[in-house]
Amino acid sequence: MAEAPPSLLSVCIDALTQQLLRPCDDDLLPCIYDLPSHLLDTLITRLPPFALRTFHHHLPFDEEGFSHDDSTKKRKRARDWNLNSAWQRLFQLRWPDRVKQIHRTDWEQLYWETHLQDCLDEAVEVALIPSFTGYIGDIQISDSILKYIGFVGNTNHSTCDHSKLSYHCLQFGSHVSCLGLQNVLCTAETSVLLRECKLQSLVLRCIRSKEQIDGLCKLLAQHCRTLTSLEFVHCALSTDFINAIFGSLVIERVQKHGIQHLSIIATSFLEPCTVSLPSGLVSFLSSGRSLCSLKLSENHHGWTFAKDLFVTLLNLSSGISVLDLSRNRISGWLFYYRRSLSGSHLSFGNGKSLKLLRVLNLRENNLGKDDVQHLRYALEHVPNLEELDISDNSIEDEGIRNLIPYFVGASETCPRITCLKLENCDLSCVGVNLLLHYLSTFKGPLKSLSIAENYLGRQVVEALGNFFHTPIEVLDIAGIGLGSDGFQELQSLIKEEIKLVKINISKNRGGTETAKFLSKLLSQAPQLVDVNAACNLMPIESLAIICCALKFAKGNVQQVDLTGHIWDYKPEHVSPYAEFVHNGLPILVLPSPSVSAAPHDHDP
Ligand SMILES: *[C@@H]1O[C@H](CO)[C@@H](O)[C@H](O)[C@H]1NC(C)=O
Ligand SMILES: *[C@@H]1O[C@H](CO)[C@@H](O)[C@H](O)[C@H]1NC(C)=O
Ligand SMILES: *[C@@H]1O[C@H](CO)[C@@H](O)[C@H](O)[C@H]1NC(C)=O
Repeated sequence: MAEAPPSLLSVCIDALTQQLLRPCDDDLLPCIYDLPSHLLDTLITRLPPFALRTFHHHLPFDEEGFSHDDSTKKRKRARDWNLNSAWQRLFQLRWPDRVKQIHRTDWEQLYWETHLQDCLDEAVEVALIPSFTGYIGDIQISDSILKYIGFVGNTNHSTCDHSKLSYHCLQFGSHVSCLGLQNVLCTAETSVLLRECKLQSLVLRCIRSKEQIDGLCKLLAQHCRTLTSLEFVHCALSTDFINAIFGSLVIERVQKHGIQHLSIIATSFLEPCTVSLPSGLVSFLSSGRSLCSLKLSENHHGWTFAKDLFVTLLNLSSGISVLDLSRNRISGWLFYYRRSLSGSHLSFGNGKSLKLLRVLNLRENNLGKDDVQHLRYALEHVPNLEELDISDNSIEDEGIRNLIPYFVGASETCPRITCLKLENCDLSCVGVNLLLHYLSTFKGPLKSLSIAENYLGRQVVEALGNFFHTPIEVLDIAGIGLGSDGFQELQSLIKEEIKLVKINISKNRGGTETAKFLSKLLSQAPQLVDVNAACNLMPIESLAIICCALKFAKGNVQQVDLTGHIWDYKPEHVSPYAEFVHNGLPILVLPSPSVSAAPHDHDP
């Protein structure tokens, strides 16, 4: 059968598209905007990105509607065209997985930013080949990427350099503010390639050599006025490198930097700055009031580093609000800090404090009970702390005992902690009962607590029952060994309405009692939104109990996670439960139909 002939409309649109893909001969451009609006609407929905960009950038008026010839007709149209949604559609077409996490934005900007990142990532693959010697800017971009923006088949590769990385950097750079760069891209050439970008946020990976640092410093110096966020991942930094990096961030005329977020993650600090704070970092911390979050995680920092950092921040009365030192080995840091506070060689004014520090993350640092004791005193200098995470440290019950005075206001400052995480801290029911007792008695502002992954057993149930009736909103009691009896008892302790919004009761081997507890919870917690009840050895019959409760719940619940159960069912058996949806997504997250029901033969 012969193909249907193309309509006149599609022939014309193809011709206009070709025209817009070659913006150099733009004689035709002005006339395009005078086409009737229904034709323009059709045109806009069919243009590939590069053509849409030409169309967008040659508008004879700006998008706010200020026409150069002041005609109200055109003014109205510019808004009606709604180019931003055309860009959103193009973005969705190319990166369907990423679109969900993004809310309102300038989609054109995001489109080209993501496009350039894809081009750079592709170039990395080429530049990483040991035999690569040429210019990075000359690396060819693949046809599959070029096709997305409308280039393949429309352009003559030998007459233009559309297919070179440099073309994309210079052409689309002006839209780009956030980039991630791999080590091989940090060369002297990079700052030339990225000169059109207005870089605000930069993520740098695997930077290790002097040459890469030199290339990076050039780039940093070039963008120091716009940069606000800098992240290093898997790098190796020597004292010289650190001095060079932070030196290049200083805006010369004002002797300050504008960085607000600094993260250095999974990076090795080479001798001697494993133990002492590198001077470059100290001057960075002192030469800018803009810094609000500092994350130094997984870098093997020892206690001397952490102590020097804390003392320096305190001495500067730093304005940071987030400090993350997780996954290091800083046990002992505050002991020496306390000693140095009382020592006369330090001229600490009593008034020094980290007034703005709200979030402190000390996760996985090998901290012990004594560290918690010292922390309590140090926190007197952190009057507005709201979130404290000491999970994955073996602080034991004694550690909790040492922390309790802080919560009950025994110290001079009144604690404002709203979120406390004590996951996997080797706590027993003795320590946790004590903590819960104090938290329930001295009703503080605490809204979120995690005591997950500590083996507490059912002896914690009574204290938990009381604690449920405090204003707590988020509670994580995953993996605390409640068991079937624990859930049963807890259920009977819920008497009045409770304020819980989110709860994690997973990994507690609760069986059917988990479902009965949930059912009670759903009826008594009208604000409940999110429940994680995974891995509780529930039989499939529990599903009916939970569904029945959901029907009568007040309707705020958005998710109930029931994964991690070996349920042998056919998809059609659970289709009745598809009635429970929130925003188009199922509320019940079910395990996939049992895999173990049909055991795999393992080849010997
Ligand atoms: C591309 O341009 C070159 C040089 O101008 C020319 O020789 C060649 O024929 C063109 N190729 C196509 C497919 O148009
Ligand atoms: C605290 O800052 C002052 C300058 O403001 C400095 O002289 C002193 O050495 C600093 N102390 C510490 C422990 O960093
Ligand atoms: C509990 O569940 C929440 C969300 O469902 C999750 O973010 C959190 O990591 C879980 N806690 C543990 C200890 O697994």
